Amino acid sequence: MSLVPPSAKPRILTGDTPTHPGLHLGHYVGSLENRLRLQDEYDCYFLIANVHAFTTLAEKPAEIRANTIGIVKDWLAVGLDPERSTFVLQSEIPAIAELTFLLAMLIPFNKVMRNPTLKTEIETKGLNRGGGETYPFGFPMYAVGQCADILAFRPELVPVGEDQEAHIEMCRDVALKFNQLYCGVGNRVPAEEHARAGGVFPIPRAKVGRVARLVGLDGVNKMSKSLGNAIFLYDSAKEVQKKINRITTGRQSPTEPGDAANVLMQYVEAFMPGERAADLKRRYTEGDNIGDGHIKAELGEVLNALLEPMRVRRAKLDGAEGDAMVMDVIRSGVKKANVVAEETLRLAKEGMGLGFGERKAGSPI
Ligand code: TRP
Repeated sequence: MSLVPPSAKPRILTGDTPTHPGLHLGHYVGSLENRLRLQDEYDCYFLIANVHAFTTLAEKPAEIRANTIGIVKDWLAVGLDPERSTFVLQSEIPAIAELTFLLAMLIPFNKVMRNPTLKTEIETKGLNRGGGETYPFGFPMYAVGQCADILAFRPELVPVGEDQEAHIEMCRDVALKFNQLYCGVGNRVPAEEHARAGGVFPIPRAKVGRVARLVGLDGVNKMSKSLGNAIFLYDSAKEVQKKINRITTGRQSPTEPGDAANVLMQYVEAFMPGERAADLKRRYTEGDNIGDGHIKAELGEVLNALLEPMRVRRAKLDGAEGDAMVMDVIRSGVKKANVVAEETLRLAKEGMGLGFGERKAGSPI
């Protein structure tokens, strides 16, 4: 059987878990912006990790389903383009589940339990009450599943937020081990040479966004839906301005020297054009007659100019017609994704001595 014709472009895989109903500015600067930029240069696969959503929402399948459709709409509105990129629905890619099982054999159990991303999640989501009794076996397993999500598509690059780096590290480790054990790649072959040296898996690299960690409106925690400190991509213009206006800096007057690291100035830095941001920052720290109110108004305008086209596109996707479009996008994405993922699984099984004959790709939904 021949391989899928290699695309002229290297591949990207990244994804979102549909545990929340909407994307916010943290997602935008952390990863979406990179995805938008890389759509032309790379063959992109964007995964909706709907099986992973069951690790914390198993009792709310209807919510997961609604969030799944919502995420696809959000992606479309942001400008991710299903004509150029492939949208992948995790639950319809059987090779990912099989690969999860196989890769699990090569990842030490203790390493999963020490994974800093998992540990942070256990803390922030309050999953440690009752000494682990409150989360299912599937929760730590999702870290292994994420290795499979990625490796099924044999990508070179994984655009993610900083919080996901531990997962990518684990994914690199298991890919290295697999290639060494089952593909005869020598221990001294550097990661970037693995594919050329006969490894099934290129060793993927994380690509963290321009702003690795966007602070929330509270000025303390990372922007997050569950902490109630987020500006959503589809908040109304009025809502955005209202949220900005509520930021507190403790500054009293336009001539009081301000703290350039406070939440307001972090947003200025993240969203205003470079020169304007530098000018405001200088005047702010010097107390050079610049009021918080003025900065808030200007920031609100810049944010709304960024978000308005997305809001308009997102509004058009509301309702049944939008739902039908989402189903079309999912169907064609699943079809394409299964071809690649089945090929990876076949290569992996052959490497492991499990190649007992060919089977058909999972039939598309
Ligand atoms: N765990 C990721 C998050 O919560 C989502 C995700 C699932 C993902 N599978 C992936 C990201 C594969 C990158 C690659 O944001």
